[in-house]
Amino acid sequence: MTALIRAERLGIHRPGTTEPVLDNVNFSIEPGEIVTVVGPNGSGKSSLVRALLGHVALAAGRVMRLTGLRIGYVPQRVHIDTAMPMTVRRFLSLPRRVADAEAAAMLRRVGVEGVEQRQITQLSGGQFQRVLLARALLHDPQLLVLDEPTQGLDQPGIVAFYKLIEQIRAETGAAILLVSHDLLVVMRASDRVLCLNGHICCEGTPQQVSSAPEYRALFGAESEGTLALYRHHHDHDHDHDHDHDHGADHHGDHGHPHDAHPRGHHHA
Ligand SMILES: Nc1ncnc2c1ncn2[C@@H]1O[C@H](COP(=O)(O)OP(=O)(O)OP(=O)(O)O)[C@@H](O)[C@H]1O
Ligand SMILES: [Mg+2]
Repeated sequence: MTALIRAERLGIHRPGTTEPVLDNVNFSIEPGEIVTVVGPNGSGKSSLVRALLGHVALAAGRVMRLTGLRIGYVPQRVHIDTAMPMTVRRFLSLPRRVADAEAAAMLRRVGVEGVEQRQITQLSGGQFQRVLLARALLHDPQLLVLDEPTQGLDQPGIVAFYKLIEQIRAETGAAILLVSHDLLVVMRASDRVLCLNGHICCEGTPQQVSSAPEYRALFGAESEGTLALYRHHHDHDHDHDHDHDHGADHHGDHGHPHDAHPRGHHHA
């Protein structure tokens, strides 16, 4: 198996019921890929992520993970016990101890240098997300799984965050599985997009998915113009500090327009 993780005909039920949350999902992620999962609230994105990580029971199908796969995971929600004091420094050493220098370098890397002695509960939302990312990266992951990682970040923070993700991929070769609502921005950074709504509605390159009727039906007004914007950004990148865009092709479409059919999965 070359894939880091592969799911076949995956089904998940709402806990304690036979009500499906996900049905017949086939998914895999290869080394070095950036794959983004989009879909409305409640469409099963976090459930898919947790199933891939082995955190929820499957109702159907199977999940295979490469033996010994190192995964860095930033969950959508983290329960922090506000009654228990915990510094950033201590949090970074859970569950595995890391050296001071390593912790400091990683905090600098994710843009929150010097916060070691701050209490976790006193960080801003955006600072906390960066600390979570730092903790995930400290384990030198082959696969980084990020569930809505830009929550609490401001707009420049979001853009910087995705640049950082692309840099990490370029430097470490880690694959990245991303759940996100930042449609336009994630599309630019992704190799492949998967649109979920209890099943896979459509998947393909960002361009294929943004032009898919299934995607438009799901995101409605929000997706209006996404493709146009996507093309515009690729043709005219005004972002001068962004020299190398690994995920995107700025110079138009080398493929044939007729090839741009997404793989639509129509649900019975
Ligand atoms: N622990 C749980 N107990 C009961 N229902 C659950 C549980 N986890 C998920 N669900 C249900 O499964 C469905 C999918 O939830 P999930 O969290 O995977 O959606 P999501 O796509 O990540 O949504 P969001 O965009 O809001 O994060 C929802 O209807 C949710 O209520
Ligand atoms: Mg979720």
